[in-house]
Amino acid sequence: MTDKNDPKHAFIMTELSVEEAIFTTRSMRHLKPDPIPKADLEFIIEAATMAPSAGNYQMWAFVVVTDEQTKQGIGNAYREAGTAYIKDTVLANPDTDDERRRVYTQAMHTVEHLAEAPVIIVACLTQPCPDDAATGSGLFGSIYPAAQNLMLAARSRGLGSVLLTLATDYSPTLPHSVKPVKEILDLPEDVGSVALIPVGYPKGQWGRPRREDVANSLHWEKW
Ligand SMILES: Cc1cc2nc3c(=O)[nH]c(=O)nc-3n(C[C@H](O)[C@H](O)[C@H](O)COP(=O)(O)O)c2cc1C
Repeated sequence: MTDKNDPKHAFIMTELSVEEAIFTTRSMRHLKPDPIPKADLEFIIEAATMAPSAGNYQMWAFVVVTDEQTKQGIGNAYREAGTAYIKDTVLANPDTDDERRRVYTQAMHTVEHLAEAPVIIVACLTQPCPDDAATGSGLFGSIYPAAQNLMLAARSRGLGSVLLTLATDYSPTLPHSVKPVKEILDLPEDVGSVALIPVGYPKGQWGRPRREDVANSLHWEKW
C-alpha cells in the first residue's frame, strides 16, 4: 500500500496534475505485455477505494488477474461477447454511423487481444443488484467513480487502461460453451463482475480524447 510517510509520496502524487490526467487519459487498447510492479497495482486499487459510494457502503471489490490461464479464460468470454455484440451486431448494421464504426472498429482490437494485457482488473459489485433502475443507479453508480479513479491513478504511473462491460456478470448471457467471469474467478454468490479493466504500459500516445464541444452538454441555470 502507499506509504504516506515516504518523502517520495508527495512527489509521486503531484507529478502529473489532476487536470493533465483528466484531459489526456483515453482508452488505451494497445498495451505492452511488460509486467507491472505490484506496488503500482496496490496503489491504483487503493486509489479506486478513495472514490465516493452511495451511503459510503463501498460495495466494491477488485480482482487483480495476472495468471495467464485466468486471463485466457476472461479473454475467451470477452471474445465471445465482443464478437456477438460489436462485430456481428453493431459493425454488421449498415445504419451504424461513421463515428460509432470508428469506435467499435478500435474496440475489436480489445476483443481479439484482451488476454495479452499483463493485468486484467475485474471490478465487482459485492451485493446483488435488483432489476430496478433506482437501486441499480446507486449500486453501479458506486463502481464507476472507483473505476475512473483507478484509471486515472494508473495513468499517473504511466499505465494505460480501458473500461469494458461486455462479458461481465450484468451483460447479456454468454453461450453455455463459454465459462462466465463469475465462475472463472470463483466469485461468491452475491458478488458480480461489473467491469473488466485491462491495464498495461501503452503502445499509443496519451492525448485529449475525442469529444463533442462542451457547449453541447453545458446548460446554465436551466436546460
Ligand atoms: C460504462 C462503459 C462501458 C464500456 N464498455 C466497453 C466495452 O464493453 N468494450 C469496449 O471496447 N469499450 C467499452 N467502453 C469504452 C468506451 O468505448 C470508451 O470509453 C469510449 O469509446 C471513449 O473512448 P476514449 O476515452 O478513448 O475517447 C465502455 C465505457 C464505459 C464508460
